[in-house]
Amino acid sequence: MSGKNASRKTAQPALVPRHVAVVMDGNGRWATRRLLPRTAGHKFGADALTRLVRGCVQQGVQYLTVFAFSSENWKRPAEEVSALMELFVQALQRETPELAAQGVCLRFLGDREPLNARMRELMAQAESAVVEPLRMRLNVALNYGGRWDIVQAARAAQAAGVELTEQSLGRYMCLADIPEPDLLIRTGGEHRVSNFLLWQLAYTEFYFTETLWPDFDEQTLAHAIADFARRERRFGRVSDKPAASGDPADPAGLRVA
Ligand code: FPP
Repeated sequence: MSGKNASRKTAQPALVPRHVAVVMDGNGRWATRRLLPRTAGHKFGADALTRLVRGCVQQGVQYLTVFAFSSENWKRPAEEVSALMELFVQALQRETPELAAQGVCLRFLGDREPLNARMRELMAQAESAVVEPLRMRLNVALNYGGRWDIVQAARAAQAAGVELTEQSLGRYMCLADIPEPDLLIRTGGEHRVSNFLLWQLAYTEFYFTETLWPDFDEQTLAHAIADFARRERRFGRVSDKPAASGDPADPAGLRVA
């Protein structure tokens, strides 16, 4: 079955996550296995991101948030960091009109301060592009860290003189104006959050795949969405479904969350 057919079959409209978050991991290993420099992996990774965006629009995902560069990624070799920054600049120049044509608007989250002026200007231009009709919002986390996000929110709330509660602090977090992610996909075989959206992922369903990011395609996305569609989301409550009689793992139907 081709990737296209698989996606049509597996994802019913009501079961498609509204908001998908993605940790795009495995570029370096993908390149190293091919005896290529790690930066080649990032270039192919940019193509995989194009496929992800197209696939999400086709599936009816409304919000997509991707982790492009973490607060910790500055610790990589200087050549890799500058190659990544150059790739972001090129991608912004090339993709912004293409995204708008697909009905996708762009927003960035993260600390822009250490980014160079050219980059910040392109980011601002991309964010102000008019997209009509709007089909999906793409959020790119760039120099982002979940802990940084919590601290910037706490500082902003403090500066506004707001009494701290989960609700009041939540209003200052990045992406506070959109639903929290329903599904987090992480490629590359690692099973961790890596300081991504720590606050926003509280009740998100996680999907891990061994697929290295540059190999990510519509079929991988369809598998993740089909897996999500089978999950029972309880948000801390007990299951609505009666426990299967004789379930050895939960004989009294007491399992929660
Ligand atoms: C993680 O793989 C990937 C990154 C740190 C960079 C993500 C960037 C892209 C996918 C490029 C395209 C992005 C945009 C916004 C145009 P890794 O290098 O940690 O892989 P490894 O775990 O195999 O070393």
